[in-house]
Amino acid sequence: MVDIIEQEIINMSEKLFNILLMDRTTKKNICWATDHYISYGDAYYPQEPITKELVTGRNANIISPRVAKDVEIQTKRTKEKAEVFTPSWVCNEQNNLVDEAWFGRKDVFNKSENQCWITNKEIIHFPKDKSWRKYVDAKRLEISCGEAPYLVSRYDTVSGKEIAIEERIGLLDRKLRIVNENTVTEDDWFFWVKRAYESIYGYEYQGDSLLIARENLLYTFIENMEYKFSHKPNEEQLFIIARIISWNIWQMDGITMNVPYSERPRVNTQISLFDFMNGNEASDKEPIPCKIYDWRSNTSLEFKSIVNGGE
Ligand SMILES: C[S@@+](CC[C@H](N)C(=O)[O-])C[C@H]1O[C@@H](n2cnc3c(N)ncnc32)[C@H](O)[C@@H]1O
Repeated sequence: MVDIIEQEIINMSEKLFNILLMDRTTKKNICWATDHYISYGDAYYPQEPITKELVTGRNANIISPRVAKDVEIQTKRTKEKAEVFTPSWVCNEQNNLVDEAWFGRKDVFNKSENQCWITNKEIIHFPKDKSWRKYVDAKRLEISCGEAPYLVSRYDTVSGKEIAIEERIGLLDRKLRIVNENTVTEDDWFFWVKRAYESIYGYEYQGDSLLIARENLLYTFIENMEYKFSHKPNEEQLFIIARIISWNIWQMDGITMNVPYSERPRVNTQISLFDFMNGNEASDKEPIPCKIYDWRSNTSLEFKSIVNGGE
């Protein structure tokens, strides 16, 4: 359950897996953005796109969560990209604070105790001036999300221990619990599940972790449908959710807010003879700013425009 096999997703649908590999800004695939796979060949260099062929067949097991990676590789990734994942109990305590601020009361979903938590089994009640629908729509972002443990908690990213649906603590897990508790028909459930996914965002630099985060969100959807209706989602539903995931969990250098290793021709810039003679020919290219999607207004916008006070 912890290490999702890419071939398993392709077996469900090749198109589904290709959606999970998409970079919505560049309209190409996400790239590796890590040098940890270069021993597999030229196609695995950091700037190269991740494709179905590179992670299946004889290289079927190369993408695995941090907890299943060699200690040596874990250490290298910590040194190079500060990759240290947060244990679930810490994610839970912080997510509890987010909910405490929203609900205006403590311990809404669970009570944290001794580096663990006791889940509140009662139906969640909402303050007078706030509805469960508002909670589902409230936007949340995990910066530098790695495998996205603050959003979904199928397993503890540090111990690798699986977590049952009823006990999950991620920000999206909590929204899905609310949808499970407040809807009856499958149509209504799916409508609100879709909105829950539309309100959850995360970005990550390294392509392998980003893919795992996306897979974790997709499997969370499948598991919740099985939990609520005892059957798997159909292809159409999988495509809809995967499309949202491929927008909302995106590849970005959080420092520059650009797509890693991306370039496009610079707009409105003419290379002068002077530039050329000084060896500045490269200045006709610029990195590509990441786009995200606002599902309520049905528009895409540059992430930079929000951070710089645009919204
Ligand atoms: C400390 S880990 C945290 C991961 C996850 N949020 C958690 O709490 O378990 C930091 C993450 O930041 C990512 N990262 C490092 N530099 C980054 C950058 N410039 N932009 C985006 N992500 C970056 C790493 O790849 C790594 O996954």
